[in-house]
Amino acid sequence: MIIGAAVAGLLVACGGSDAPPPGVPPEDLVGGREARVFYARNCSACHGQEREGRIGPALTPDRLTQERAFYAQTITLGRSGTAMPGWGAQTISGGLSEQEITRLLEWLLEEAPNQ
Ligand code: HEC
Repeated sequence: MIIGAAVAGLLVACGGSDAPPPGVPPEDLVGGREARVFYARNCSACHGQEREGRIGPALTPDRLTQERAFYAQTITLGRSGTAMPGWGAQTISGGLSEQEITRLLEWLLEEAPNQ
């Protein structure tokens, strides 16, 4: 039992090359990843690797000047009629919780690209 638990813990810790480093608090994770890793995997194709914008607009703190709730809604539900998909659990199965979307948004609003 104890050995089994240790092995399971190890597998989780090593699960995937971009798994979060140990010590990142669970409430800081987005889809089981650090926000920047989740962004790189899911958002950068449209919003740019450095959040400089591509198909979608740039997502940098200086550009995101509307209310947080507005952007939270955009990320949760997407924008119909545009390429922006919804990422919330109510929109796609296995989607992000409200807390995860808040964390992702915090990262977009508070941390400069590349951090
Ligand atoms: C398939 C392309 C695509 C992907 C993937 C995508 N977006 Fe978007 N996103 C867009 C487009 C296009 C818009 C602009 C929609 C419009 O015209 O109102 C947008 C708009 C936004 C906005 C609103 C920006 C503003 O200035 O109003 C936010 C915030 C945003 N996206 C966050 C994200 C996040 C976070 C992810 C990843 C979890 C993501 N997007 C993934 C295409 C995408």
